[in-house]
Amino acid sequence: MTESRGERLCLSRRAFLLSGGTAVTILALGGPSEVFGQGAALKVVSYPRKKIGRVSHLKPDQPVMFQYPWKDFYSTNMLVKLGVPAGGGIGLDQDIVAYSTLCTHMGGPLAGQYRGQYKVLGPCPLHLSTFDLIKHGMVVAGQATESLPQIVLETKGDDIWATGVMGLIYGYHANLAGKA
Ligand code: FES
Repeated sequence: MTESRGERLCLSRRAFLLSGGTAVTILALGGPSEVFGQGAALKVVSYPRKKIGRVSHLKPDQPVMFQYPWKDFYSTNMLVKLGVPAGGGIGLDQDIVAYSTLCTHMGGPLAGQYRGQYKVLGPCPLHLSTFDLIKHGMVVAGQATESLPQIVLETKGDDIWATGVMGLIYGYHANLAGKA
């Protein structure tokens, strides 16, 4: 009985890891707008485009805050040049990424919690969740089970534009293209 419990746990963990790998692979190939990450579908939802910064103004490991897709409390995000290539990264070095700064566990504030040495956001001040910004915001520690929502970015010349969100923004029951 113990063995079968252990086997189930092992398979569950393998399925978990495989689903994360699939998400990264599909995203790297520019695949469909819905991928499966840490136990739940990660939807890429398009919102109205918004200019959020300039490539030439970014300094490595110095985050810049911005609001997207709306101006409400839940739309607080962080733009950062990691200095190393990242999933979903833009720019010549594919190292510019943006993420929500609301923890996916219970909405804890992650602003100011960026750790440039490890390229992670966290630990969350509430229950210590930490997210890997190189790997699409994957949870690497703590209570959260869902990846951090990643802001989809584009460049046009020196300008950086936000065009959508991958994953569910904390506080929204669904990521809808219309106003929540
Ligand atoms: S709210 Fe961030 S870990 Fe709980």
